Amino acid sequence: MSVKIGIIGAGGMARYHIPGFRSGGAEIVALAEPVPDARAKASKTYSVKETYADEDEMLAKRKDIDAVSIITPNRFHMPIAVKALRAGKHVFCEKPPALNAVETQTMVDEAGKAGKLLQFNFNNRARPEAYALMEYIRSGEVGKINSAQAVWARRSGIPGFGGWFTTKGMSGGGPVIDLLHMLDLAIYFMDYPEPDFVLAQTFRDFIDDRAFRGPWGIPDVAGGATDVESACHGFVRFKTGQVLFLRSSWAEMTEREVVSVNFQGTKAGGLIERVFGRDGLDATSVDRCELFTVEHGRHVNRSLILPQDESMGRLRSARNFVAAIEGKEAPLNTPDQALKLMRIVDAVYASAARGQPIQLA
Ligand SMILES: NC(=O)c1ccc[n+]([C@@H]2O[C@H](COP(=O)([O-])OP(=O)(O)OC[C@H]3O[C@@H](n4cnc5c(N)ncnc54)[C@H](O)[C@@H]3O)[C@@H](O)[C@H]2O)c1
Repeated sequence: MSVKIGIIGAGGMARYHIPGFRSGGAEIVALAEPVPDARAKASKTYSVKETYADEDEMLAKRKDIDAVSIITPNRFHMPIAVKALRAGKHVFCEKPPALNAVETQTMVDEAGKAGKLLQFNFNNRARPEAYALMEYIRSGEVGKINSAQAVWARRSGIPGFGGWFTTKGMSGGGPVIDLLHMLDLAIYFMDYPEPDFVLAQTFRDFIDDRAFRGPWGIPDVAGGATDVESACHGFVRFKTGQVLFLRSSWAEMTEREVVSVNFQGTKAGGLIERVFGRDGLDATSVDRCELFTVEHGRHVNRSLILPQDESMGRLRSARNFVAAIEGKEAPLNTPDQALKLMRIVDAVYASAARGQPIQLA
């Protein structure tokens, strides 16, 4: 019997979640979305006939649903996930896990009580380059990763002014939390060590400057809040002695958009990078994947030749969730990792607010 999934929120990522789940053999049985136009459009676009104005009604009427997929603004991730887990559903939730670590802890606890899967869409782990690099790392060819640099730096990528993205109470923050993909990927490569301390500084210089709006995002809301950072630079030390440099921006005077993780191991280094033709547009991008090593006493750079995946792992990530429910694949991320990540994010904001390092141990 195929896994039955209900979609909650017709956010942009539905365009990957729905075909990704279907390619894994799952059935999309219903969709809950409060805005009538968005509901009708998504129903037609994705051929999901059964729709609901809210998730409560969907969960009450479709008791046969095995899992839900949450694609709403960040503020709703935790309360919707808790409802779904209490109703006995597996949960696939868009990133970031929640607004902060306290909310994430609540989700993790509920998943434990329900005995259900709680997986987040850290889709960069599902890129062909990430699968490939993990094979080298797990085989021991990279050695211990001492250090990494996680960068998602946009020159002009503010996703709208005054909407939920720029309202801290709705989003949890700006680019640090929105673009946390590279931070997660770097720590994943490092085997998710226990964080020791975090030192970071955030900046807000361009958060109201229309010259820095991205080519996508949500409509502007006149008089809405823009109380989040526009850029951040930070440093994380782990208890293992490993270290990570973090750079994250929606708006910064930089040459072009950079989306990459570099790492330096005791046997080899590596790079995963998305290079955009036109900043921010996946359709014009090319993905690079490199290993830096020494062979026969010579320094060698190996370029990995891999299939290009414009979706940035988003289809594969959704398929992994279905396979994980069916016990065919291990989930690509665990609730404990999400919690560790959000503790680091919280510490980034706390360090910036207090102007001092934050001890996590
Ligand atoms: N993985 C990625 O690469 C990626 C990319 C973009 C966005 N996202 C994430 O996807 C999520 C949605 O972002 P978006 O840009 O699509 O936002 P959006 O505002 O465009 O869409 C969100 C949708 O959720 C609906 N919604 C709001 N409250 C709801 C509720 N209680 N129940 C059901 N539906 C509700 C809204 O009406 C809207 O249609 C965010 O968490 C964002 O961080 C992830």
